[in-house]
Amino acid sequence: MNTTLCENIDWVGRVDWSVRDFHSYDAEHGVTYNAYLVRDEQTALVDAVRAPYADELLRKVAALCDPASVRYVVCNHAELDHAGALPEVLRALPGVTLVCNKRCAEALAGHFDTSSWKQRIVKPGDTLPLGRRSLRFLDTPMVHWPESMFTYVPEEKLLFSMDAFGQHYASAERFDDQTPLAAVLEEAKTYYANIIMPYGKAVKTCLERLAGWEIATIAPSHGVIWRTHVAEILAAYRDWADCRPKAKVLVIFDTMWESTARMAEAILDGADLPGVQRKLLHVRRVNLTRIAAEVLDAAAVAFGSAMLHGGMMPMAAAALTHLENLRPKGKAAFAFGSYGWGRGGPEGVDERLRNLDWQILREPLRAKYRPSDEVLDECRAAGRMLAEKALESCR
Ligand code: FEO
Repeated sequence: MNTTLCENIDWVGRVDWSVRDFHSYDAEHGVTYNAYLVRDEQTALVDAVRAPYADELLRKVAALCDPASVRYVVCNHAELDHAGALPEVLRALPGVTLVCNKRCAEALAGHFDTSSWKQRIVKPGDTLPLGRRSLRFLDTPMVHWPESMFTYVPEEKLLFSMDAFGQHYASAERFDDQTPLAAVLEEAKTYYANIIMPYGKAVKTCLERLAGWEIATIAPSHGVIWRTHVAEILAAYRDWADCRPKAKVLVIFDTMWESTARMAEAILDGADLPGVQRKLLHVRRVNLTRIAAEVLDAAAVAFGSAMLHGGMMPMAAAALTHLENLRPKGKAAFAFGSYGWGRGGPEGVDERLRNLDWQILREPLRAKYRPSDEVLDECRAAGRMLAEKALESCR
């Protein structure tokens, strides 16, 4: 495996091929935890890995240099997928100094006994000379946690971007030009939707701050390293930070005895206009992680549920809770669903959609027991309205 980013800067992380559940994120292509070793007159390890992989990280460091020569360990982010191995790493590297910002030091002290750790607190714009190269620091609060930070090597135009620009994508290759671009971009989008989307404003601030920086390589803390398609991932982040919609209609639903499913298909049929992409997502067939990724760039959403025990169906509620937490912006939407005798299915969905602050196009579309031909016609008309809205929002 080629792990070299440039002379004396190497990836020393862990490829976690088998993980599928990353704190409820459905990581269908596995995960990597990226750490990087910058060898110079003074050597620095940038970030670490999850606690169980500390030994592997230390073995990779020892294969490249004398561990006693590592002078600094930079912690860009205190979340345990990166910081979990720090106690063991700091124990194994005698004399090393942990470099992080003040908030990160506080977060680490909330996780570990850091009283014996030698620490250097850095502020935005601080530079740490290593010899031929240096490290410059930029705080990026809420991309992804309050203490999040980027580390930049100006001499190599190399940005260690922590979670930003990352993907949950395990591969034997480390670089964007060695892996299928479409698949990696799709995983970057899924990662953005599920991890970064609530912090779009912070992402925009971060992109503005990076605007004057020369960046040849972006080395995130998950997935492949961007060295050939840097412009593409930066452009994608600009779009995602704005939740910029495509002419895309989603019909998301759960169903009990197929009545809501029939309504969903009629809505999808009605949305069949030239230039409109359409997708039907059954919430018990498509996982929440993928649903969030689809919603990110959709312009319009019909969301349906049958009524169950006076409310909506459980997985419909779970999907709406996930979306409420992720706060995708600017969609046009309406609720639909079937019922037998009580209210709470489509009406409950309608209430939750309004919480999302989306544009609600109509009152909930309802069918008593089975959708009649009239109701199915109404579904097709509502689908067409969604498609027209989707086209309009992209003009
Ligand atoms: Fe990959 Fe926010 O940690």
